[in-house]
This record gives sequence, structure tokens and C-alpha cells, in this order.
Amino acid sequence: MHNAAFAALGLNWRYLAFEVQPDDLRAAIEGARAMGFAGLNLTVPHKLLALELVDALDPSAKKWGAVNTIRFETAGGHGRSKVRAVGFNTDADAMVTALREDLKLELRGARVLLLGAGGAGRTAALKLAAEKVADLFLVNRTQSKARTVAAEIKKQFPSTNVTVGYPESGVDLLINATSLGLKAGDKSPLDERRYSLEQARSVYDLIYRPAETALLKAAKKTGCKTANGLGMLLHQGARAFEIWTGKPAPLDVMRRALAQNIYGH
Ligand code: ATR
Repeated sequence: MHNAAFAALGLNWRYLAFEVQPDDLRAAIEGARAMGFAGLNLTVPHKLLALELVDALDPSAKKWGAVNTIRFETAGGHGRSKVRAVGFNTDADAMVTALREDLKLELRGARVLLLGAGGAGRTAALKLAAEKVADLFLVNRTQSKARTVAAEIKKQFPSTNVTVGYPESGVDLLINATSLGLKAGDKSPLDERRYSLEQARSVYDLIYRPAETALLKAAKKTGCKTANGLGMLLHQGARAFEIWTGKPAPLDVMRRALAQNIYGH
């Protein structure tokens, strides 16, 4: 999507993918800086590690506690100019935009059940609280991690009603932020003996490949409104594009490139 966007704007830029081991992340960031890169995106498992490795954090990265975008900035001044790495987070806002666009859902006052308390789950939970959902239910395989996230929310957003465990009644939105569903043959992360999909009006899966996880398949069958994570991927990328280039992202070009490259149509 980025290369399509660069081409559309006539920018002689390239977006490349590199596989980096966590132990090498510091060297990779330094290398990119030394080679004059404009910036980086980071994905699993680097988003938390990078918090400690950049020179400065934009408020977005501070607030959501993860870095998915780095911009290399040349500081003016005398003598040799210094390039610093600044960390941003474009995931959290992208989730809200995607929910609004794909599910026509406004989070303020909503009841939400969130599955997952890893990196993605934690950022999603904090953002949902910041958007003033009325009730937030956190479910995670390892319950202690959900409790840690709940405690963080109570501290940062004391007006959010946060509970660890399944709700006793219906929700406006169920979100999957676990990685269960990424691999072929993965089962749904929702334990339907504990909570029935009939109780969820909308279901959002952060996973976009496969386009339809076991959870989304079941949710569709039940009659829930559904969407996968492609919109979130698009919007986090569009914001990163703007951070690097300072130009408005050509959203339609990026959307088409994503669909073409991920789904082949
Ligand atoms: P990410 O950055 O994608 O969130 P992560 O931090 O490794 O990656 O988190 C993965 C999430 O998926 C966690 O919530 C994890 O549950 P645990 O905290 O119990 O590990 C969840 N997850 C992964 N595999 C799972 C499985 N087989 N069943 C249920 N949850 C699973």
C-alpha cells in the first residue's frame, strides 16, 4: 500500500520489509538511521521493545504504550546535524476509524467485550477506555495479563467500568485482539459455552489474513455485523505515510493496493 501511495504521489521512495530478530532491533534501528531512512514500521514482536530504543516518544506512543512507527528527524542546529528516532503509535486511532467506517460503530457509551491482552489487546483496551466506552470486559487465556491491563485502565481512565471475564448480558461489540485465527485451522478465540455470539451485535477481528477467521465465520452465521482488520491495517498505514511524508495519504490508492496484494482482487 505504501509503494502504491508513493507512486501515486510521484515520490521516489520505497517501502521494504525486513525480518529482524528482537536481539537485533537496536542495531536495525541504528542501521536504518545511518543509511538515511525516512522511517520505519514495526510489528510483532517489536512494538514494546522499541519504546526503550527510540530517542523520543510522540504522545501517541506514550499514551498507548507501543511504537509501530518511527520517523527519523534531523534536528537543526550548529555543526553536524543529529538525526533522532521518534516513536509514534498509529494503531490505536486506526482501530477507532475502522470501527466507525466498517461497522458504523461509535464507541462512546458502548459495551465492549475484548479478547486478548497481549500487545495488540493492551493497546486496544486502553484506546477503548479513552474513547469512553461504558463497559469494558477483558478476556484472555492468561487471566493475570487481563488483570494487569484492567488495573492500568482503572488508573488511567477511572471512569471506565472495566471487568475481567465474560459479561452476563449483551454487548454492542466483540473484538478479537488475540493471535488465534492467524494460522490455518485455528479455532475461534471465543468460548461459546461461556458466551454466545447471539449476545454480540457486532464482531471485529483485528486479523485480516485469512479474510474470514473461524470467529468471523461463526459471527456472520449468527447474524452479527462483522468486519476484519483490513481497515485498521489501512488506517495505521495511512497515518504512518503522513508522518513520514508530511503529505495527505491517498487512501483509495492504498485501499486498492491492500485488497489486491492481500486478497488478490
Ligand atoms: P500481539 O502483539 O499480536 O498482541 P502477543 O503480545 O504475543 O501478540 O499476544 C498474543 C495474544 O493472543 C495474547 O492475548 C495471547 O494470550 P496469552 O496472553 O494467554 O498468551 C493470545 N493467544 C495466543 N494464542 C492463543 C491461543 N491458542 N488461545 C488463546 N489465546 C491465545
